[in-house]
Amino acid sequence: MLLKDKISIITGGARGIGRQIALTFAREGSHIVVCDLNESMLSETEVELKGLGAEVLALKVDVTNSLQTEDMLNKTLDKFKRVDILINNAGITKDALLVRMKESDWDAVLNVNLKGVFNCTKHVSAVMLKQRSGKVVNIASIIGIIGNAGQANYAASKAGIIGFTKSIAKELAPRGINVNAIAPGFIQTDMTASLNEEIKSQMLRLIPLGKFGSGQDVANLALFLVSEHSSYITGQVIKIDGGMAM
Ligand code: NAI
Repeated sequence: MLLKDKISIITGGARGIGRQIALTFAREGSHIVVCDLNESMLSETEVELKGLGAEVLALKVDVTNSLQTEDMLNKTLDKFKRVDILINNAGITKDALLVRMKESDWDAVLNVNLKGVFNCTKHVSAVMLKQRSGKVVNIASIIGIIGNAGQANYAASKAGIIGFTKSIAKELAPRGINVNAIAPGFIQTDMTASLNEEIKSQMLRLIPLGKFGSGQDVANLALFLVSEHSSYITGQVIKIDGGMAM
């Protein structure tokens, strides 16, 4: 087992990519703190994680709220006494062309996708600094690298995550903490399910491997990045996109 008795916090872990990461880490022996806004999916994921033998703390947390993310950390320490891994995965989209994008769409996406990463990393890294160990993985997006019409808010938030990742990697490296970002391409989840078939087939033509990715594909990369197999890797942005952006 790659993560035996490690303590992992996964934000937005009730469904989609975050849920696959939580299940994959639990299968590798990690205990899991899973947080999300969606309480019903959170309890389903909690049951599944416990079925894999993990000790689980499932918390309703809004990552945009600093008091709530601090409380999440305190509850984690009360139960597990330490934190080894943080996966900043919670994210949303509110797509529109710039001329039609509302200020509220901009604020909502930047708040969840970027400020949420700041809130969680700020609290958790304080503990990792004292422990002199830890792994942080931020889920960015290929869109933060190549951009996309209709996603200026989302692209800005994900590009922001990349700059944040590199800065924090430099700050935390002297204390043995690795910080990396994953930039997925098109992954089949509820987030992408609502896109119409025409957009999906246009996307597919841009993917050299000729297929969409799965949550498990991303979870496998996250597992590598939090395991000792990647101990000399920090400050990197690793694309997982079927070759879409080379
Ligand atoms: P999803 O929509 O299936 O899951 C996101 C989860 O985050 C949901 O369970 C949601 O309740 C939770 N969440 C939303 N706002 C929250 C908040 N304020 N506080 C706590 N939890 C919150 O999305 P998916 O596809 O699993 O995406 C996960 C991450 O991967 C996101 O950051 C997304 O931007 C990123 N990503 C996804 C891609 C895809 O093709 N699906 C491609 C590139 C990046």
